[in-house]
Amino acid sequence: MHTLCQLTDIPEPGAKGYEVEGRKLFAVRYRGEVYVYENSCPHRSIPLEWNPDQFLDYDKLYIQCATHGALFRIDTGVCISGPCVEDSLSPVAFQIEQESIILI
Ligand code: FES
Repeated sequence: MHTLCQLTDIPEPGAKGYEVEGRKLFAVRYRGEVYVYENSCPHRSIPLEWNPDQFLDYDKLYIQCATHGALFRIDTGVCISGPCVEDSLSPVAFQIEQESIILI
């Protein structure tokens, strides 16, 4: 169990990147829900963002890879546009306790 952050650390809608014991992750808050994924694009297995915490597209409707522009659904992590369509981001198991995101 590892406390990733407080919910209030992440804007809604918005995202934030973390490194936990060498593992790159990011958390998204969107429409009242929280999602945590490995920060690795399934296209090239590289981090999604070029700028810190810049994981969402301009309209904050999708997760976007900065390298080749793949778009992923926030709720499922499935790629709907770009070079890795139908591939998915890897979800990370977590629970919310007392307004904190806890990795399990
Ligand atoms: S590395 Fe993410 S779309 Fe190519």
